[in-house]
Amino acid sequence: MKVLVVGSGGREHTIAWKIYQDRKDVELICAPGNAGTARLGTNAPVSAQDIDGLLGLARSEQVDLTMVGPEAPLVEGIADRFREAGLAVAGPSAKAARLEGSKAFAKDFMQRHGILTARYRVFGQAFEAESSLRAGEFSFPVVLKADGLAAGKGVIICQDLTQALDTVDVVMRQGRFGAAGTRLVVEEFLKGEEASFMVFTDGSRILPMVPSQDHKAAYDGDQGPNTGGMGAYSCPTVLSERQQQEILTQVMEPAVRGMASEGCPFQGILYAGLMLGAHGARVLEFNARFGDPETQVVLPRLKSSLIEILQGLAAGDLSGIRPQWDDDSVVCVVLAAPGYPGSYPKGLKISGLDMAEEESGTIVFHAGTSLDDQGNTLTSGGRVLGVTARAGILGSAILKSYEGVNKIHFEGMHYRRDIASKGLDRAQA
Ligand code: AMP
Ligand code: GLY
Repeated sequence: MKVLVVGSGGREHTIAWKIYQDRKDVELICAPGNAGTARLGTNAPVSAQDIDGLLGLARSEQVDLTMVGPEAPLVEGIADRFREAGLAVAGPSAKAARLEGSKAFAKDFMQRHGILTARYRVFGQAFEAESSLRAGEFSFPVVLKADGLAAGKGVIICQDLTQALDTVDVVMRQGRFGAAGTRLVVEEFLKGEEASFMVFTDGSRILPMVPSQDHKAAYDGDQGPNTGGMGAYSCPTVLSERQQQEILTQVMEPAVRGMASEGCPFQGILYAGLMLGAHGARVLEFNARFGDPETQVVLPRLKSSLIEILQGLAAGDLSGIRPQWDDDSVVCVVLAAPGYPGSYPKGLKISGLDMAEEESGTIVFHAGTSLDDQGNTLTSGGRVLGVTARAGILGSAILKSYEGVNKIHFEGMHYRRDIASKGLDRAQA
């Protein structure tokens, strides 16, 4: 069997790793992949955005199944194109991926289907957003979101009116995010703790994954600018059984039913970013794919075959599949390039990777890495590696992942030292 994994981040290395764990006989192709995926199969030099190139690759390699990691090709319709070509693909249609591709669509959808989310308004003109903010329709801090995809940078939390008006100008008039900023969502700031909840769905059936928690801010104590995610953990106490049930019945079921009733059934991985507050869970965002770095801590806990689930997703039929999860704790600490999430250098030599994986239960998932002609591993992105460890209890998994971190070096690398500490506080409370 041949499987094509589209993408090049830590999420895609984890997906490839899990498939390899499931079945060593599977031939893996990653496009474009990274230095980590190169150890599990073949990297094909085709960009994740190049849908025609990927179609050509899937045809010429006669792949049996394609799994799409990132959102951009999904929003551009890669799954529709593959299906039209008769190729098996795990991922939602472009119409279904609007849940991630347009924040305005997602917010209006939630309102139509009674899914709890922050109070909001959508604006198509800068002056309308400005007059709403000036009129005090929202208190501060207020959250401004570019409607379209902006690689995790399109959400700006504004502390006062001056900052909010500046942001409207930058997004809507100056076009900082291009067409993604043609419309702007303004929404109420929610307080609480965040959690990530993902499910597999074939458009009607829902198979929940174990919950996890991401760390979006760049520095310890949730300080500094937002990033794609500086680390994550998953353990049996992230959310209580009651909270998980509530999220299933009040978020996931209405979302899946709602998409089907609107003529665009969601077949793939549906991700809800949630804010847990005094009044229960409210949705911050939907994603149409696996989270990164959530995948790095969730998939290692999946005892069942991922391939079987992905095949079910591609066929639009998950009946008979009952994924089993273990009770371990998994922690992933992201090692970032100097300067990230701002601009950063590439091509820094990484050492200590083999030593970091000597301890059983520790895996280093690659994100922004590449191999040079001599076989050295170099940095090639902002988030470079995800040092991931599993253990029976969260405290041990944290210790183990930082032991792994201590063995790795590249110039100027930075990482958070408090990944999963909230989980530890909760366990001790
Ligand atoms: P999003 O891409 O919509 O998940 O937003 C990125 C991050 O911004 C979230 O993970 C939150 O930390 C923060 N955020 C987004 N919306 C809100 C909100 N309404 N209230 C507070 N924080 C938010
Ligand atoms: N870790 C957040 C995301 O994947 O969007």
